[in-house]
Amino acid sequence: MKKIRLGVNIDHVATVRNARGEKYPSPLRAATLAEKCGADSITIHLREDRRHINDTDLSLIISKLKIPLNLEIAATREMLKIALRHRPPFVCIVPEKRKEITTEGGLKLNFNKSFLKNIIFKLKKKKIRVSLFVEPSLTDIKKAKLLNADCIEIHTGKFCNLINSNSNFNNELNRINKAVILANKIGLEVHAGHGLTYKSAKILSRIKGIKEFNIGHFLVGESIFVGLPSCINKFKKIVK
Ligand code: PXP
Repeated sequence: MKKIRLGVNIDHVATVRNARGEKYPSPLRAATLAEKCGADSITIHLREDRRHINDTDLSLIISKLKIPLNLEIAATREMLKIALRHRPPFVCIVPEKRKEITTEGGLKLNFNKSFLKNIIFKLKKKKIRVSLFVEPSLTDIKKAKLLNADCIEIHTGKFCNLINSNSNFNNELNRINKAVILANKIGLEVHAGHGLTYKSAKILSRIKGIKEFNIGHFLVGESIFVGLPSCINKFKKIVK
């Protein structure tokens, strides 16, 4: 039986498409192929500036996909409206800064606490599974529980950077491990993502209690060389 579900993030298929303003490569085609290859869910991040995935991609993908769509959104009124209109089975709330290249850290859970709580309430009322993208911080995990999230997704960016630069990652791994234990103890489902590669996914897959990985940039990049089916297959072997 599979230990960790594999969520395939296809944002960067859209990045390549948008680089030339063409209709290809198609994120929908990538999503349906990933589904065929055994992805457990598809993740897309509809950014406020629509720099990769756009509203049409969201409509098309959600109408064709059989596996769950995990929609990443910033905590804004606009994004809440979109999520409630499309009702994806999963939503992950992420921090967003216009000028960042990628999501730089976890959510600041003190900021606008009641607004966040209200968003979570409205999504859950529509039976949407809500996850919060957080740092592996015990304080933030307790706050996520108080906000009534169903899951947390641990930001693995720092851990992956340490691995990529051949630095000592033991402290960060330990921090993630403690975060996973606490989250499971208080009844939050644990996901992990950001910057994951074959190597970092393999190390993290040894931590008990992580239920889902969401992997995008490396997976799309590696697929240029080995193809999406082969790359997904390799990740599936890692997480099984
Ligand atoms: N999980 C979340 C919440 C994210 O925001 C991202 C990046 O969009 C990812 C996972 C995937 O990160 P990467 O593209 O580095 O694999």
